[in-house]
Amino acid sequence: MSVYDLTGRKAMVTGGARGLGEGMARALARAGAAVVVADIREDLGKATASSLREEGANAEFVALDITSDDSWGQAMPQAIAHLSGLDILVNNAGVEITSLLVDLDAESARRMLDVNVLGTALGIKHGFRAMRPGGAGGSGGAIVNVASVAATIAFPGIAVYSATKSAVDRLTRVAAMESGKLGYGVRVNCVYPGLVPTEMGNQLAVDCAEIGLFPSPQEAAGAVIGLTPLGRLGEVPDIADAVVFLASDGARFITGAGLPVDGGMGM
Ligand SMILES: NC(=O)c1ccc[n+]([C@@H]2O[C@H](COP(=O)([O-])OP(=O)(O)OC[C@H]3O[C@@H](n4cnc5c(N)ncnc54)[C@H](O)[C@@H]3O)[C@@H](O)[C@H]2O)c1
Repeated sequence: MSVYDLTGRKAMVTGGARGLGEGMARALARAGAAVVVADIREDLGKATASSLREEGANAEFVALDITSDDSWGQAMPQAIAHLSGLDILVNNAGVEITSLLVDLDAESARRMLDVNVLGTALGIKHGFRAMRPGGAGGSGGAIVNVASVAATIAFPGIAVYSATKSAVDRLTRVAAMESGKLGYGVRVNCVYPGLVPTEMGNQLAVDCAEIGLFPSPQEAAGAVIGLTPLGRLGEVPDIADAVVFLASDGARFITGAGLPVDGGMGM
């Protein structure tokens, strides 16, 4: 059960095939929303949508590469057709490639900029076009972008990733301003998740050890826990519930905000 009722709402979650995005899709569905799982990984995304349907949700998969304007141009009408509208867009898909700055690989940096910054910006573009008055998705709604605690602290090994997540934070503020000023009726907020042991989170701990920052992945994770007042790593539902809140009417007077969901690590 969710404390925030999304019955009748229509939600699209990018990167919804696994990890945090899957958890967000599940939490939105449990709160009553119909959900489109949008992801570049068709195999995983279809399986996730089907497992949501087994739980009784109205869920479909749509193929999407968030870095491509054309892909958004195809995926958004498909999502709107499946859902009969759109009220909620979660720009969650992202990538992290760990590296010390002295070893920076330009291609890896470009990939993170492409997915995390351009991909999120294109998501906002297509979300606005769908949800603003006269848009194919209906009128008004909420966008939730997924930044990171990395946008609020300095942790070694993730400089470019942190920069891309700071960009997501700024994109959120300007998007909220444009939406408000131009009367789109779309609230735009972001979350800053702390470390969660998804495939990305686990790989980050492994990579931090591999580049010599910590003796082992366990000690990398332990260092994060040591920096976290609540004394543990995040869990997928911790982040998903915050997204449900920001998407719901419980957050009806909140826009342009960044919500830390990190056990206090970034305070
Ligand atoms: N896990 C963490 O510790 C953590 C912490 C803070 C923020 N985040 C952010 O949360 C989001 C989700 O992270 P996660 O841990 O679930 O990662 P993950 O790697 O487990 O899942 C990411 C999903 O995004 C999809 N994706 C990647 N590139 C895509 C593209 N171009 N188009 C469409 N889909 C694409 C992947 O296929 C995958 O399903 C990311 O933006 C990440 O930066 C994660």
